[in-house]
Amino acid sequence: MVAMVDSAADLDGMRAAGSAAASVLDMIGPYVQPGVTTEELDQICHSYIVDELHCIPAPLNYGGGGNQMPFPKSICTSVNHVVCHGIPTPSKKLKSGDVLNIDITVIKDGYHGDTSKMFFAGEASVLAKRLVKITQECLYRGIEAVRAGAYLGDIGYAIQKHAEANRFSVVREFCGHGIGRIFHDAPQVLHYGRKGSGVRLEEGMSFTIEPMINAGKRHIKVLPDQWTAVTKDHKMSAQWEHTLMVTADGCEIFTLREEERVCSN
Ligand code: MF3
Ligand code: CO
Ligand code: CO
Repeated sequence: MVAMVDSAADLDGMRAAGSAAASVLDMIGPYVQPGVTTEELDQICHSYIVDELHCIPAPLNYGGGGNQMPFPKSICTSVNHVVCHGIPTPSKKLKSGDVLNIDITVIKDGYHGDTSKMFFAGEASVLAKRLVKITQECLYRGIEAVRAGAYLGDIGYAIQKHAEANRFSVVREFCGHGIGRIFHDAPQVLHYGRKGSGVRLEEGMSFTIEPMINAGKRHIKVLPDQWTAVTKDHKMSAQWEHTLMVTADGCEIFTLREEERVCSN
């Protein structure tokens, strides 16, 4: 069974969780400067999520099934060649030219809102700006493929086509996911694939799209901390993420920020 919004209460819940998560990304922007540590960014977001939004930061103590260590922080901070799931730490101080993803997931009244965006500390390189822009376009191309009657594969196809047309590569090991009362639910939303393949989209399905696009080769490895995924070639990686719901003629993006003027119908 895939994640579905199937009542007015679900819809209200997902809207509230999504806008809460989005507000954290708006709040943290001004703090992303050379000299700040990813630990400090985590602490600022944690306090905001708990004390201002009265939400739960979903990553904190997440996972940890089997032999895996639970995620120890409230947000993910993935700098430069870190693909995703970077763990905030006092030893990672941002310097000018760093590019990072901040990934926020909050739980509000039992519903999850999951979203991430890219930030620059100081001056970014031409390559970093291009990778970040193309990756955001990949997210939007994926979103534009969403409507009732389309297929999950249409999303992956649109993303892969745009990434590879720009000579970047798509990470295969992580994907978008159904989301609602459960953080990571079915379906898996691949960021590569074939048109017309996979699950047929129906009104009310809710999931994330969160392409990870590499400047170099697509291959990744996970560090011994069991979370931090990095590119094998140590070239830069970027990611953007939204939580959305399928509608008859497009989708409703629950995590849209004020600064975004994209709209999927
Ligand atoms: N927010 C991530 C996602 O987009 C998941 C983070 S899980 C964590 O699915 F444990 F690493 F925080
Ligand atoms: Co996600
Ligand atoms: Co996320």
